[in-house]
Amino acid sequence: MTTHKRNKTKTQGAKNKSAVPAVTPTRTTPSKRKKPVPHPRRPRAQGRHRQPATFDPLPESDAFLVKEDLRQEVVKYRRQLEIIRQASLRMTTELSLDQILNGLVVTAKEFFNADAVSCMHWDDSKSKLIIKAGIGFKTDYTHKRVIPAQRLKPIIDSGYDHFYLENIQLTAKEDVQLIHAEQLVSELTIFLRYGQEMLGAINIYSRGRIRHFTQEEMENAHFFAQQAAIAVRNANLYKEMKEEAQIAKTLLQVAEEVGALNSLDDVTTRLMIILHRSLKVKIGMIFLWNQGKKLYLPSKAVGLPPHRSPLFQTLILRQEDVNFTEEELSLREVICAQKEPGRFPIEKIANVLLERDLYFVPLVTKGKLLGAIAVAGYQGKQDFNHKDEVFLRGIAAEAAIAIDDASLFEALEGAFWDIIKSLAAAIEVKDSYTHSHSESVINYATAIAQELKLVDTEIDLLNKACLLHDLGKIGIDDSILQKVAPLTFYERKNIERHPVIGSQILQSVGSLADVAIIVRHHHEKYDGSGYPDRLAGENIPRLARILAVADSFDAMTSDRPYRKALNLEQAVEELKTCSGRQFDPELVEIFLRVLQRKKVKWGLALPPAT
Ligand SMILES: [Fe+2]
Repeated sequence: MTTHKRNKTKTQGAKNKSAVPAVTPTRTTPSKRKKPVPHPRRPRAQGRHRQPATFDPLPESDAFLVKEDLRQEVVKYRRQLEIIRQASLRMTTELSLDQILNGLVVTAKEFFNADAVSCMHWDDSKSKLIIKAGIGFKTDYTHKRVIPAQRLKPIIDSGYDHFYLENIQLTAKEDVQLIHAEQLVSELTIFLRYGQEMLGAINIYSRGRIRHFTQEEMENAHFFAQQAAIAVRNANLYKEMKEEAQIAKTLLQVAEEVGALNSLDDVTTRLMIILHRSLKVKIGMIFLWNQGKKLYLPSKAVGLPPHRSPLFQTLILRQEDVNFTEEELSLREVICAQKEPGRFPIEKIANVLLERDLYFVPLVTKGKLLGAIAVAGYQGKQDFNHKDEVFLRGIAAEAAIAIDDASLFEALEGAFWDIIKSLAAAIEVKDSYTHSHSESVINYATAIAQELKLVDTEIDLLNKACLLHDLGKIGIDDSILQKVAPLTFYERKNIERHPVIGSQILQSVGSLADVAIIVRHHHEKYDGSGYPDRLAGENIPRLARILAVADSFDAMTSDRPYRKALNLEQAVEELKTCSGRQFDPELVEIFLRVLQRKKVKWGLALPPAT
């Protein structure tokens, strides 16, 4: 039959009771009193700094130690107090929880002369006591044994500070494996509490024999547990502070990282990387709110297997699918979808993600809903804890600001871009001879760039430069642009101003600064005789050199006010003649190679007879 002897005498605690047996020191008689000699092992304190008190074994010659058993008792208590004192000293100067708990088991084993001791730490997010340190066991049980809150609740509610199990081999079914493997017989568990707050427990085991504890041992043990509880609480607070500082630091980095980005695409991509890196979630997603359609549209996802990524774009969520309350929006609350069944389309999302532990947080700034972040799957974690929630809310706040800024920036950039494209179109209308010129230049330049295997961003930059290279002609008088007769020196100098005028207009749009450089140098010549800066060779930006070849070839093969277009053979000869003088010879060679392949497609030659 199972016997479960719980010590129902609620310990009054060392706070109210002295855990130390009263010891009254005796003195020698006045007649025999000699000048006091400082104790050799306890030098007098000097100045304002006193050495901490120590508990030395009593000299056997003291008059009150007439009985050996009493002397043994006192020696034992003093030893226990010294153990506690040393442990307290260590605990009050240590802030690492692991160090404290590891020190605690060593001290408790020595204090109780125990066979094995484990120390459990209360995990608030999981409502469980979990072994974090142990000594004297044959197997390492760290992180393996847990006592769930449900089992502890009656004990905690009853206000017990400890419980004692005389023969645990007959009682604790949950730990049968541990108990039998370790041949444990008695268990004394003392809870570590701070007020009503549960912080942990110390489990003291005897192996192969029933162990009883004296009243004095219990009182000292509770004093010891109180010291340990304070140390554990300090360590918990220190850990929380460190975590909060880490979160604040990370969020600052997030703000700096995403705040420097102007493109919405770049912002959402960066946010996904940060989520994956910092929150250690398996899957992260951003949905952007479309106010007109009242839909959350999928924007970016991270962590999805490649074959599932296309499915993410089908995850269009309706307003009623997510539907944050006003309070949730204003507080940017993290919502666990599983805890609110029927509110989120979990099945629909789970079919894509293959994950069900889904959390949503709204993206709100200046009272405006911008979308939502959703995360799912916690790498190596069972629960989404408070720290994760605080971090996700912080990310959502920074993300909302960055997304709002990027959206506004893109809208402004878009407006500028539209204006500039209108200007470019106006140039073509103004200079009727250059109609469709930009389109042809784009085709030629892109072909050279592809042959050079330039990256997409460079090709995109080149295309913009091709479209806008003659933008500066907006500042040139129509009579010069459309003049049929040869230009005078003054008129030629005037028209040569157009690269500078064009680049100055483009520099006013931040994102077009790189385009402005290419536009400025598209009339430089390889031998340094061009304008406006007379750059030569590779000092001329490569994209400007490409544009020069494409622009000039199109000019050669187009009618101009002052001459008719050259035919293909003549234009090719002209390119070869000017190679190394006006044009980069390597680029001419590449272009002529591409021209052979694409001249029919470009409408420059009849198709070969079949
Ligand atoms: Fe030009």
